Amino acid sequence: MSSVLSAEQVRAYHDDGFTIARNVFSPEETDLLCRAMEEDPKVAAHSLIRPDIEGGGTRISLWNRAGDSVYGMAARCERVVDTAEQLIGEPVYHFQSKLTAKDPFGGGAWEWHQDYGYWYYNGCLRPDMLSMMIALDRSDRDNGCLQVVKGSHKLGRIDHLQVSEKQNSADPARMEHIVAQNELVYCELDPGDVMIFHGNTLHRSDQNRSPNRRWTLIVCYNAVSNDTITKDDDRYYVPLDKVSDDAVLKAGLKFASGDDEHFAKQAYVPEAKKAS
Ligand code: SIN
Ligand code: MN
Repeated sequence: MSSVLSAEQVRAYHDDGFTIARNVFSPEETDLLCRAMEEDPKVAAHSLIRPDIEGGGTRISLWNRAGDSVYGMAARCERVVDTAEQLIGEPVYHFQSKLTAKDPFGGGAWEWHQDYGYWYYNGCLRPDMLSMMIALDRSDRDNGCLQVVKGSHKLGRIDHLQVSEKQNSADPARMEHIVAQNELVYCELDPGDVMIFHGNTLHRSDQNRSPNRRWTLIVCYNAVSNDTITKDDDRYYVPLDKVSDDAVLKAGLKFASGDDEHFAKQAYVPEAKKAS
């Protein structure tokens, strides 16, 4: 078991719904991940624009399997998977990865949501799922870093309503009270840091109005015992083949090959009532 977290960080995850692990990836590893996101033709070919409600858009690429690419190795390496298993408390599998690429001056906002607000509709019965946001660039308040409501994973699953064609938001009327009653944390990250958050943790981010790029790679895991009850979405259980921690460097600038990564053609946005 080679978790990257201290006992204090594990406690923070369970109490607050998130924790930040610094320098999980070395500068050399982070540089490989970053270049793969910039240069892998499959990442570019599957890039989608997700409009926000302020007239901006964020660019994402989504894939469902962790293959042999350098970013597949990052998602499968021991220290990362062991950390997910330590927090979820049982064996996990790779659920989805995505590049969220906020370019300077306009990279789009994300509305308040819980990842499980979406994943519930992919047929997961429990929120025993988490996301790891790997910073590829510095991510701070100026360029639209992730914001979380501390402790919000304890609120249970909140109804999500449609606020744009491509984004649902946790019920805005409820959010007003949640934000008023709880602490909001801006999670500033340096390249190679990883922010880990529970499937029910409420999070959002602002547009990037700065001259600095904010790209992140988000890798999500599900408990094996929480496999999807529907098999039509490509995110059902497939065994995760753990690799040693040096596999990222050993992979070098290895891109996706064949259809190993199962890139998605569109983002899945569950049908929801419109927010009034
Ligand atoms: C997400 O919630 O999936 C993305 C958030 C972000 O990139 O700021
Ligand atoms: Mn999310």
